[in-house]
Amino acid sequence: MSLPEQILAIQNGALDHLSTVDTTQELEDWRVQYLSRKGELAAAISRLADLTPEERRSAGQAANHAKAALHDALSAKSADLKAVAQRDSALDVTLPGIAPVVGGLHLTRQTLYEITRIFMGMGFKVFETNEVESDEYNFGLLNLPPDHPARDMWDTMYVSDDVVLRTHTSPGQIRAMRHFNPEPLRVILPGKCHRYEAVDASHESMFYQVEGLAVGEGITLASLKGVFEAFTQQMFGADRRVRFRGSYFPFTEPSVEIDITCNCLGAGCAVCKGTGWLEVSGGGMVHPTVLRNGGYDPDIVSGFAFGMGVERNAMLRHGIDDIRHVYANDLRFLKQFT
Ligand code: PHE
Repeated sequence: MSLPEQILAIQNGALDHLSTVDTTQELEDWRVQYLSRKGELAAAISRLADLTPEERRSAGQAANHAKAALHDALSAKSADLKAVAQRDSALDVTLPGIAPVVGGLHLTRQTLYEITRIFMGMGFKVFETNEVESDEYNFGLLNLPPDHPARDMWDTMYVSDDVVLRTHTSPGQIRAMRHFNPEPLRVILPGKCHRYEAVDASHESMFYQVEGLAVGEGITLASLKGVFEAFTQQMFGADRRVRFRGSYFPFTEPSVEIDITCNCLGAGCAVCKGTGWLEVSGGGMVHPTVLRNGGYDPDIVSGFAFGMGVERNAMLRHGIDDIRHVYANDLRFLKQFT
């Protein structure tokens, strides 16, 4: 076979081979096999030197022709492969869509909103007050002077000697009274509280309370009971009952613990430890000294106050047995309530 014939054979063989190529890797191998410096075409061209000048001219033409044909075929194939790749990765409108992640309200926030909705329905305004409080507001003005033994009821985190992270929402009572006096008032004070607690199934070091406060003429402990019963029945069910037990807080007199009947409706279960009752709130009649500190005359007006835990409300409503779930940020837990 003469060299021009050999070159033509390489060209035809290469073009046949190219028709079987369908990946970019195969195309690169093909290029190396036929068109690289050590490829078949280059090997044939190197043999031009052995020919007579005449032969060399026709073989050279055949070589140039083959080279051009293979380069053209290479770029055409490369464009084909790109087009196929693009088509394969293009939008497939028949695929199911990807649902966007939708957020939801945290369990505590939902519970706060529900509590707020119920009290707003009874004419209470929402009054938000400081989360970082002075010692004076958190204790002193609530009838708990420094060294009062009842301060031990609240394990307190101090920011400095006279600034604390509020241990309860009760300091808001003073702020609300100072804001509204001498007008009568009916407010709830929702917010975060902090205590230096050993964390366990029913205690967190950060939690929410809702304080309730009503001040005006003729308010009695029966008013508190009526309001709390109306709240309980909307929050937990129309068949729930409320009872007061005598208790002690320095800022109320008399003071009570407020219990509601358990889910078991008095039969006795693990949640109520067989008693049929659940403690949900502290409360009482606002102490005359506290009324005075708020700018009211205790000879003219009286008031009731209560303070309850928001997480506890959520736990009782949803049958949650450990408060630590509420802030562990485990979406598997939280998503159940969104
Ligand atoms: N502040 C009290 C507590 O945190 C609860 C309370 C509020 C009691 C209002 C009486 C009146 O335990």
